[in-house]
Amino acid sequence: MTTRVLLCQRDELTPGSLKKVPNAEVGDICVYNLEGQYYATADLCTHATASLAEGDLEDGLITCPVHWGQFDVRTGEAVTFPCEKHLRTYQIIVTDKEVFADVAKEAEEALAADLA
Ligand code: FES
Repeated sequence: MTTRVLLCQRDELTPGSLKKVPNAEVGDICVYNLEGQYYATADLCTHATASLAEGDLEDGLITCPVHWGQFDVRTGEAVTFPCEKHLRTYQIIVTDKEVFADVAKEAEEALAADLA
C-alpha cells in the first residue's frame, strides 16, 4: 500500500477552493487551500453519506451540503450539529510542484488488519 497520495499540483487550487481526490485504499480525500496553506480530510461526512467537496468552504469551516453540519478542516473537529464525530485528517507533504497526503498511518492499520 502506498504511503503518499497525490492530491493536486501546488498551483492547482486557488485560496478558498477545495477538491475531492478519489482513493480506493484509504477512502476519498478532500484537499483544501486556506490562504495558501493546504489541508486534507476524509471527504465523506461523518453524519451520513455526503461528499464534503460539494459543500461550502468559509473561514476554515466546511459546510456539508446535505444537513449543513460543519467541520474545521484544519483539525477535523465537528463544530456544528448534526455532525458530532470528527473527520479524519491527513498530514500534508508539499514538494516543489505537488501536494500529497501522508497516509502511512492508514497503511499501517491496513497491514495490521491483514495480519490479525
Ligand atoms: S450528511 Fe453531512 S451533515 Fe448530514
